[in-house]
Amino acid sequence: MDEVWTVKRLLDWSASYFKNKEIEPAKLTSQLLLSHVLKLPKLHLFLQFDRPLSASELAEYKRLLLKRAEHEPLEYITGYTEFMGLPVKVAKGVLIPRPETEELVVKAEHYINRMPGVQAIVDIGTGSGVIAIYLKKIFPDIPVFATDISLDALAIAKQNATDNKVDINFQNTFFPEYEHLSENLPLVIVTNPPYIRTADVATLQPEVKDFEPMLALDGGEDGLTVIKDILVKALNLKCNVSIFMEIGYDQAEDLRYICEKLMITDVTLFEDFNHVERIAKIDIKVS
Ligand SMILES: C[S@@+](CC[C@H](N)C(=O)[O-])C[C@H]1O[C@@H](n2cnc3c(N)ncnc32)[C@H](O)[C@@H]1O
Repeated sequence: MDEVWTVKRLLDWSASYFKNKEIEPAKLTSQLLLSHVLKLPKLHLFLQFDRPLSASELAEYKRLLLKRAEHEPLEYITGYTEFMGLPVKVAKGVLIPRPETEELVVKAEHYINRMPGVQAIVDIGTGSGVIAIYLKKIFPDIPVFATDISLDALAIAKQNATDNKVDINFQNTFFPEYEHLSENLPLVIVTNPPYIRTADVATLQPEVKDFEPMLALDGGEDGLTVIKDILVKALNLKCNVSIFMEIGYDQAEDLRYICEKLMITDVTLFEDFNHVERIAKIDIKVS
């Protein structure tokens, strides 16, 4: 008689299967997939090691395991991730939020707390909506705008805003339209634009280049197209603007140069947890 597939046996077998396929972390991937299939918190798997799996559970687990073996990101397979502890739906049309972007919002939050009278916060290229949603949770009294040129992304971002019970002004555009913009109060832009050079996209790991939306990755020939557009648009606003922007690991010097050319002098770069300058704070004052 065939040996029964228990939770423990399946976890052991699939951890070694993923290891052979160089899908890491192999053990954790197995645990997260199985807890998704069994709709159980991961910890409960360890309490039910001897539980046998039904034929339909096994078939579903196998279906998802094969997807992950083909490098589909776990977050797309489960349709779920977290950002700053908030539950977030993701699907192939949106970028999976990254830890660097959590650092971006923490930095923005720190400064917004010290900035009196912020009239609006704007998230350009909102993707799954995480930047806008997190900041609206922290600053419920400040209007938050979020834009994206991808309708797929906006649909998911709206769903995430509803699930997280925040009210955000979503717009299917690049730079938002404001009904009223006060010249005397500051505006804050917090953005993680696409910044990868077109030629570099093909060199990214398969999880990224084969599954994540090109619109979210490709920043044009020099990787700086959207970054420059944001700065130029911000310069045309008639109020003081503080921009918090995530940039690529090798773009700090390029950004300083672009700002110099645009005669923007107030530029600060912060290092991320890998000690790489990845977060820019750019202040533009109307004279
Ligand atoms: C790097 S992703 C960031 C997504 C999300 N903010 C995050 O941090 O996870 C960039 C997003 O910008 C959007 N995008 C690209 N070009 C744009 C443009 N010109 N105007 C507005 N959004 C744009 C893409 O569709 C994508 O959702």
